[in-house]
Amino acid sequence: MATANRALFMLFGGTGDLALRKLYPALFELYKKGSIDNHFALLGLARRPHTDEEFQKMVLDSISSEADNQEQAEEFASHFYFRSHDVTNVEHYRALSKLADELDKKYELDGNRIFYVSMAPRFFGIVAKNLKDEHVLSDNGGFNRLVIEKPFGRDYDSAEKLNNELTTAFKEDQIFRIDHYLGKEMVQSIPVIRFGNPIIDAVWNHNYIDNIQITLSEKLGVEDRAGYYDTAGALRDMVQNHTMQIMTLLAMDKPASFVDTDVRAAKIKTLENMNFYDTEGVKENFVRGQYGAGSGSAAYRDEPDVPHDSNNDTFVAGKVTYKLPRWEGTPFYVRTGKKLAAKATRVDVVFKKDINNIFAKAYLPDTLKTNVLSILIDPRGGITLRVNVKDSKQGFHTETIDLDYLQNDARASEVPQPYERLFHDILNGDHTNFASWPEVAAAWKYVDPIQKYWDETQPNFPNYEPGSMGPKASDELLARDGHSWYFPEEK
Ligand SMILES: NC(=O)c1ccc[n+]([C@@H]2O[C@H](COP(=O)([O-])OP(=O)(O)OC[C@H]3O[C@@H](n4cnc5c(N)ncnc54)[C@H](OP(=O)(O)O)[C@@H]3O)[C@@H](O)[C@H]2O)c1
Repeated sequence: MATANRALFMLFGGTGDLALRKLYPALFELYKKGSIDNHFALLGLARRPHTDEEFQKMVLDSISSEADNQEQAEEFASHFYFRSHDVTNVEHYRALSKLADELDKKYELDGNRIFYVSMAPRFFGIVAKNLKDEHVLSDNGGFNRLVIEKPFGRDYDSAEKLNNELTTAFKEDQIFRIDHYLGKEMVQSIPVIRFGNPIIDAVWNHNYIDNIQITLSEKLGVEDRAGYYDTAGALRDMVQNHTMQIMTLLAMDKPASFVDTDVRAAKIKTLENMNFYDTEGVKENFVRGQYGAGSGSAAYRDEPDVPHDSNNDTFVAGKVTYKLPRWEGTPFYVRTGKKLAAKATRVDVVFKKDINNIFAKAYLPDTLKTNVLSILIDPRGGITLRVNVKDSKQGFHTETIDLDYLQNDARASEVPQPYERLFHDILNGDHTNFASWPEVAAAWKYVDPIQKYWDETQPNFPNYEPGSMGPKASDELLARDGHSWYFPEEK
């Protein structure tokens, strides 16, 4: 078993939805596995007052489905403390420093501090500044790490402003920007599938790959998130961060090594080498959509808290190309949206047709299909490879089969949840699965002209039915290049 890490967690927004639903269960899993042990403490911070006992009860409730041993769960919860704290009140930070020192001493934490800001984004900068100005950072040789939730800005300018605020108090190598997709098992598997398999590594370029398709589709609509979602939209909420990160892992050249600085360097080079669009490019290569009513479900504009004239995008499809020699002429198609036909996060790598193929030429020009490698990320991890084989009949005919690997229940249940993986990395100071500032900056620079063009023009919404795979224009985007979406089923 790995050595347990020592740290004091200060959780700003410690009674919030994310903390209770995801963060405490993730920490408990680490506790069960011994990655943290008796040498940790968590200080929950929020305005409304609670006693330590009330807070510990909240924590126990939040981990109840993971707890198979009540004594262990209570022992874990006993490391949790609560202070009423308004992040905008400078005075409140003064008490924090003293309390942090006491907990440090009590649990022998070596001065290690992790400041996790799980609150509305407008507070990210102020927390960082006050922590530094009011001397809450550890100064006795331990580490200070700042963890920032999403969203990181709403365009390049606001992201840069936020980053400047953070970096007045913390250095880049102390900042961990959360993108929880980077904590997903099969997202982390992408580099292994690519670089760990010579037969895949050898063909991972424009000579063999016709196009790559990335789909992040949801069946659900906006649910109770309209307040936030209507000010963001699918482009900001899903493309700038998660989709771009997945695409970058697929497109990057082989890093010099798999340590975080080298992986980051490879990712930054990839993001900065996208072909950035002007207005004409946006018009040609990006499509937006908004769901209407259908199959008994309400239109986006009729959802609670959504204005009746909202032009917010609930769907985006786009074609991304790179200046990198590896991808000359090979487009990456991305697609994400709500109220679609399937809940799925997946990558479909469509290989080129070999026009000189002996079978295609002589016998079966139409039945021989292209190879497709699919990486299934959600809801169940897996890999599929479509290959051609001979069928069982007399004579010479081919058929197409899938070599399938889907995680079984046992494997799926042992896969750590994204926040557990990310906490583990934060404790170990490993940045591989976090977005660096140059990555975030490049992604916003890519997305900004798209958003700007959309803000300035009137869309014809609604333009897709719930339960479909988005507007017709999304299919046409690929058809123009002689391609089609492979998922849900190739047409
Ligand atoms: N929830 C999710 O599933 C989810 C998913 C992905 C990302 N995120 C991100 O995670 C962050 C937290 O989201 P959330 O859903 O957990 O938010 P939330 O449920 O609204 O919780 C906000 C927390 O902040 C505290 N708070 C608010 N104002 C404060 C102040 N001035 N000083 C100190 N504490 C204050 C609240 O407690 P008091 O009101 O008592 O102060 C509460 O504990 C956001 O950045 C969000 O974008 C959330």
